[in-house]
Amino acid sequence: QYDSPLKGKHVVVTAGPTREKIDGVRFISNYSSGKMGFALAEAAKERGAKVTLITGPVHLQTPEGVERLDVENACEMYAEAKRIYHSCSVFIAAAAVADYRPDTVYDGKLKKQNVEMQLRMVRNPDILAEFGAVKQSGQLAVGFALETDDGVENARKKLREKNLDLIACNTFDRKTSGFEVDTNVLTLIDRNLEETALPLMRKTEAARQLLDYIERLMDSEQ
Ligand code: PMT
Repeated sequence: QYDSPLKGKHVVVTAGPTREKIDGVRFISNYSSGKMGFALAEAAKERGAKVTLITGPVHLQTPEGVERLDVENACEMYAEAKRIYHSCSVFIAAAAVADYRPDTVYDGKLKKQNVEMQLRMVRNPDILAEFGAVKQSGQLAVGFALETDDGVENARKKLREKNLDLIACNTFDRKTSGFEVDTNVLTLIDRNLEETALPLMRKTEAARQLLDYIERLMDSEQ
């Protein structure tokens, strides 16, 4: 086995969806299955990294040797991530975090009324953007972008705004890439705005290719 620059390094991966509660029995969420994030955690572990996986509610087995922290909503994911920002060498945000949460959560079940109802939503913390803002030299911030329109252009914007070293933009089609499926079609954009379009491949292989790219970025910093 070659000596990976990730060996012995702390890699933090966020995965899965978040659930933002409306009341005691309902929530707002998305279609993330956690597959992309779990594949990344497993691949980083294979390269000898110490891996912490912070995950929303998913139905996946924890990869062997990976520390798993289960959370339900964006605020909980943020709290767990914040505790370990300082110790990680690479922070990979594969989770589909809700940007908003209901302002008020009702304890019991909201009763149906004979009138329309309105939900007031408030902003959630941006976990990756905060890591990008506080990261020190030697720490890498890696994000994903999922957009239905103008994916690559928006990904470039996120790379800049969140101070990332690398972003992986999913092609959105729900059949071969993005949410739930076992495969993905990613375009990688690094901090020098260099673009690499990866072909359709399994998420396990996409995870390895993403880590290869991260290793090259780590090497280029030495
Ligand atoms: O879980 P799967 O079913 O395998 O699907 C994989 C995936 C499509 C969920 C994954 O590949 C992916 O693209 N994850 C990020 C989706 C997303 O939320 O993108 P975004 O463009 O809204 O967010 C941009 C980046 O900021 C992401 O890295 C996200 O994790 C991060 N973010 C966003 C909002 C927030 N409040 N905190 C964050 O950390």
